[in-house]
Amino acid sequence: MLKGVFFGVALTLALALLGAYLVVEGGLIPANADASPGRLETWLAHTSLDATLRRDAPKGQNPLAPTEMNLALGVPLFAQHCVVCHGSSKGAASPSPIAKGLYPKPPQLASDGVEDDPEGFSFWKIKHGIRLTGMPSFANTLSDRQIWTLALFLKHMDKLPPAVQQMWQHIH
Ligand code: HEC
Repeated sequence: MLKGVFFGVALTLALALLGAYLVVEGGLIPANADASPGRLETWLAHTSLDATLRRDAPKGQNPLAPTEMNLALGVPLFAQHCVVCHGSSKGAASPSPIAKGLYPKPPQLASDGVEDDPEGFSFWKIKHGIRLTGMPSFANTLSDRQIWTLALFLKHMDKLPPAVQQMWQHIH
């Protein structure tokens, strides 16, 4: 009796695995980028990212104070590494060709920003990237100080001091 149950469970598992393999091999999982992610995919991605951030993102304050100097330092960093995907101060009004073609789409941060997020969350995303999206890890490219500078800029993007706002508006 127990043997029969065991055999049944093993057979069901084997068939489920074979079915999953055939679905992937048969090209039934879409591989194209010219589409929008469905609800299940979005839920899976967001839930796993949120859980990872709660566990791994730095909890403390940004070590850099929101001085005009520190905010100004964020503008050229953002221009060099981020504008191509996350847009200029014009936001959603002028996404780049790369931004238009990515799956999932990068938020145009001047319109759809992350000012409400803890700075540690932005730090983690910039440092480690977001798996299976266009968001790269900058761990090998930028220092922790540069990443905190970017996190600070993102936090204050909608309320920059006038001189920094002017610099930001000159970036295309
Ligand atoms: C090649 C394109 C690309 C580049 C370059 C890029 N990102 Fe991203 N980024 C993305 C994509 C795509 C997402 C959305 C990922 C998702 O849906 O989870 C994203 C997400 C983010 C998020 C989370 C946004 C949110 O609403 O939660 C932040 C913050 C971010 N990027 C910051 C940056 C910064 C800062 C830079 C430059 C140092 C940068 N990114 C460079 C593509 C890019």
